Amino acid sequence: MGIKFGIIGHGFMGHEHESMLTQMDGVEVIGICDSNPAQMEDVKEGIIRYGSADELLSNPDIQVVIIAANNNQHLELVTKAAKAGKDIICEKPAAMSVAELDQMVNVVAENNVKFTVHQQRRFDPDFRTVKEVYDRHSLGEIYTVKNQLYGFNGNMHDWHVFVSEGGGMLFDWGVHLIDQLLWMIDAKVTSVFATVKNVINEEVDDFFNIQLLFDNGITAELELGTYYLKDQPKWFERHWFMGGDKGSMYVDGFRPEGKIVRTTGLLTNVSGKRTMTAAGPTRSFGNPREGLIITEELPEVKTCHRDYFEQFIRAYEGKEDFFVKIPEVRRVLSLMEAVRESARTKKSVDFE
Ligand SMILES: NC(=O)c1ccc[n+]([C@@H]2O[C@H](COP(=O)([O-])OP(=O)(O)OC[C@H]3O[C@@H](n4cnc5c(N)ncnc54)[C@H](O)[C@@H]3O)[C@@H](O)[C@H]2O)c1
Repeated sequence: MGIKFGIIGHGFMGHEHESMLTQMDGVEVIGICDSNPAQMEDVKEGIIRYGSADELLSNPDIQVVIIAANNNQHLELVTKAAKAGKDIICEKPAAMSVAELDQMVNVVAENNVKFTVHQQRRFDPDFRTVKEVYDRHSLGEIYTVKNQLYGFNGNMHDWHVFVSEGGGMLFDWGVHLIDQLLWMIDAKVTSVFATVKNVINEEVDDFFNIQLLFDNGITAELELGTYYLKDQPKWFERHWFMGGDKGSMYVDGFRPEGKIVRTTGLLTNVSGKRTMTAAGPTRSFGNPREGLIITEELPEVKTCHRDYFEQFIRAYEGKEDFFVKIPEVRRVLSLMEAVRESARTKKSVDFE
């Protein structure tokens, strides 16, 4: 037995939650609903099937609901769940605006229920590897962080192609990429400059480039394109680069591969000597001499998305705070609004 869950929305993510929670100790999935009956056909045996959120919410046994419906349904469903006295895990993006989130926060407070958001990508192994290097100060003073994710063929589907449903890549992946960065870098974001485009899709954004300046001196760049092609192995996975004054680091792929890279003779080798390159002589770029570049293995980090729910259980039992806190969610949404404003005005936006 354990914490009793209901799942609202049995599409892609609803199935993921059903599969994860039915394999875990300490939790039990009592009921699932979806407004589309076709999505209910393969609900696992032993779980009650409901035709609507209202019916599911009327089951007094359900303690926690996971809201895994389209983004434009979150506000209404969080409101109903809170009024029904259910604790809530809402899928990301929790809300489509800061104003919507604030309404959710009010209704959750009025009904005295718990509220957190499924930002499980804080447990992505590639991201955690980068964070481990960052936290250990292995690269000295960090000055730049880059995170890139590219896809092929447009990569947008179903309701994700409609603005009214909360579609677009900024809401889909942008919310994860921004959340990871803001969670890792403990500093204020002073300015935001962004480009947001629809390259292939008619209605919604499918490319963005976001530059963030932090008040600790770090410049961060996030770029995502759903039609950004290269014939390189593992191109269509994530790429991280982090630069510090004692070395750099690259991490490629969701199962991270990469290295920490340093030079054996930092600064001492820069004697103004000319190196001949195809582009002509250079004193700063060109290829380094043999032995100058050395590499180190990345730290090994063991983590997976199940850790999100393991932590949720401990927090629900009162042993820890919820991992994803609503002020953090609000900050990410607020930054996404600054991104859209910068893209619209083609100017940088002061942030915090
Ligand atoms: N955390 C993650 O990594 C992650 C990954 C994918 C999607 N998501 C999020 O999960 C949510 C669902 O996305 P998806 O890709 O699973 O979409 P989906 O279209 O596959 O599934 C959504 C389901 O919700 C149902 N639905 C819509 N409104 C409903 C309502 N009012 N009541 C009951 N059911 C309703 C739809 O019929 C559909 O079956 C979105 O918020 C999305 O951003 C999160």
